[in-house]
Amino acid sequence: MDYAIAVLPGDGIGPEVTAEGVRVLEAIGQRHGHAFRFEEGTVGGIAIDTTGSALPPDTLRLAKRSDAVLFGAVGGPKWDDPRAPVRPEDGLLAIRKGLGLFANLRPVQVFPELIAASPLRPDLLEGVDFVVVRELTGGLYFGRPKRRWTTARGRRGVDTMAYSEAEVERVVRVGFEMARIRRRKLTSVDKANVLETSRLWREVAIEVGGDYPDVELEHMLVDTASMQLVRAPSRFDVLVTENTFGDILTDEASVLTGSMGMLPSASLARVPGQGTRAMGLYEPIHGSAPDIAGRGIANPLASILSAALLLRYSLGLEEEARAVESAVNRALSDGARCADIAQESERTLGTREMGELIVSLVR
Ligand code: IPM
Ligand code: MG
Repeated sequence: MDYAIAVLPGDGIGPEVTAEGVRVLEAIGQRHGHAFRFEEGTVGGIAIDTTGSALPPDTLRLAKRSDAVLFGAVGGPKWDDPRAPVRPEDGLLAIRKGLGLFANLRPVQVFPELIAASPLRPDLLEGVDFVVVRELTGGLYFGRPKRRWTTARGRRGVDTMAYSEAEVERVVRVGFEMARIRRRKLTSVDKANVLETSRLWREVAIEVGGDYPDVELEHMLVDTASMQLVRAPSRFDVLVTENTFGDILTDEASVLTGSMGMLPSASLARVPGQGTRAMGLYEPIHGSAPDIAGRGIANPLASILSAALLLRYSLGLEEEARAVESAVNRALSDGARCADIAQESERTLGTREMGELIVSLVR
């Protein structure tokens, strides 16, 4: 088959790690008989510099006519002025909204070989394997009013957390569907003791749960969830939560795996079923890491694992997705490490070397 993939490398280490994701996809294409057509677009700070917009219309059009988007990272100190009228992050938010990517899947799996790279006690990390389903196009990120202004008594700012029943329902459904193909346990995370949106969230989650009698549903307050994530992370199977809570909890969860450099994500425009295809954007959860950009030392595994999710969810190529994931597992068990996950005595691979190793291992 022939597939069109939009590649949006963005800023910082984005271009370096995305290049390795592309190389791994090319290798998969050759070995499994698929033709991937890659077309590159500009987004983030570099797009602001060249076009004035963090998401130029051409880039959104490119994404819309593609089967999937492989995304790098956006942002950097150059564009960090809080008074700037446009920020690189606006490009990411606009493409999520523009493509209707309401469900963000962030799998967190602890590779046994990397347990030593985590600051947590090894016995806590055994068997950690969960997915966070983060709502991605609502909540505080997009609610109106959202503004800053000056009053007689000083400056004020407002953000709005708003959710409709339909927005909650579709993302909670993704949580149930994921749980159904895993260990059948769903934790819905909210702040129902304080927030109206959370009380709505909980109500809708219970209603949708009626369609999934085979999945065990529990509710957990977000502050408790943040504690349980480091105290007993192996208790979780699937978590589903609103945008901001999911943003914060997934950075916390990444610490379990030893490095942000390991975690991929998939952002989908509809509820994924087994074997069905859905438009999606795939990106590492790490940022643009400007401090190490351009040095060829960034870990490309999050981008490579994001490419695996792309194969699975947007192209319906499960076997190919597994081939990439096995290659990564194999590389790690053979002792391959980038600087972020290496222990002192270990030899470390650069970005390109790690990419080449995975290319040589995919079957
Ligand atoms: C993430 C990032 C983004 C977010 C930023 C870069 C806008 O932190 O994907 O988790 O907050 O969603
Ligand atoms: Mg984040």
